[in-house]
Amino acid sequence: MLPKFVTLYEVGPRDGLQNEAQVVPTDIKIALINRLAAAGLREIEATSFVSPKWVPQMADNAAVMAGITRALGVVYPVLTPNLMGAEAALAAKADTWAIFTAASETFNQRNINCSIAESIERFRPVMELARRHDVRVRGYVSCTLGCPYEGAIAPDKVAEVTRALFDLGVYEVSLGDTIGVGTPNKVAAMLEAVLKIAPAEKLAIHCHDTYGQALVNIHEALKHGITIVDSSVAGLGGCPYAKGASGNVATEDVLFLLNELGIETGVDLHAIVRTAWFIADHLGRAPSSKVAHALKDK
Ligand code: HMG
Ligand code: MG
Repeated sequence: MLPKFVTLYEVGPRDGLQNEAQVVPTDIKIALINRLAAAGLREIEATSFVSPKWVPQMADNAAVMAGITRALGVVYPVLTPNLMGAEAALAAKADTWAIFTAASETFNQRNINCSIAESIERFRPVMELARRHDVRVRGYVSCTLGCPYEGAIAPDKVAEVTRALFDLGVYEVSLGDTIGVGTPNKVAAMLEAVLKIAPAEKLAIHCHDTYGQALVNIHEALKHGITIVDSSVAGLGGCPYAKGASGNVATEDVLFLLNELGIETGVDLHAIVRTAWFIADHLGRAPSSKVAHALKDK
């Protein structure tokens, strides 16, 4: 049985842009976020409060948060890897934060410079600050279907890290196929392990489309009761610490599938396609998604 409603969690302005070599002007980022909200998206990950030495593209995080028009009913989560990031996110009035770790030790070292256990300890003061200020915190687990350094990842390891994040108090966990090596059988095995420790409504699926498998993987996740899907307009994205990872699954591709399956989202497909071309034009290349091309000018 497929769900009747799916929440699309847009990661384009953050996961999508973080890997762009050329710095995207702040006003373009702001316009992108405002267009995504106008298209009906209700969860738009806006930026990240990470070290600008590690990810220079996100150095304008505070200016982005100050410049966006906060639409009623829309949340604008931001990544907060440590207390310093959380304090800056708080100052920028970010209403939802996201902490991120991985099911792979090597990836975690490369991405946030600490072990999985150390990352959980680092998140404790972040959660404490969030609690004091009524901020909701999302959790991410990367490399749930494979790691660029370690290869296959055991589903039980994903479940263990997911549990550690829920124990910290996150409201949901996004399960990332960071390098897009998943296939439906791997998704099924991973979700079966994670669903033993958390209900489906608290889990999101986060697919990158490196091998063109993202949509079948998402369909498999929907069959397992998942109702929150991360996606990125124009298929932008990639992780700077996951060599070979291509873009996230495109929001317009997911939306076309969901519409055709009769699953509601509240998001306007044509407005998303126009937004995909808006950001693609600024980046000087076409969107990577099929749907953006098929529906261009329609
Ligand atoms: P570190 O070097 O171990 O940190 O980095 P540190 O505490 O030793 O500090 C070193 C310097 O960074 C200091 O500055 C700090 O002030 C500064 P210095 O004294 O050298 O001038 N610093 C900061 N500056 C601004 N904001 C901060 C901050 N923290 C320290 N928050 C750290 C550790 C976590 C900071 C670093 O590794 C980092 O920023 N990593 C970010 C990596 C990242 O953004 N990756 C992409 C996002 S994850 C992803 O894409 C996956 C996901 O999409 C899901 C999926 O696909 O699987 C979520
Ligand atoms: Mg990602």
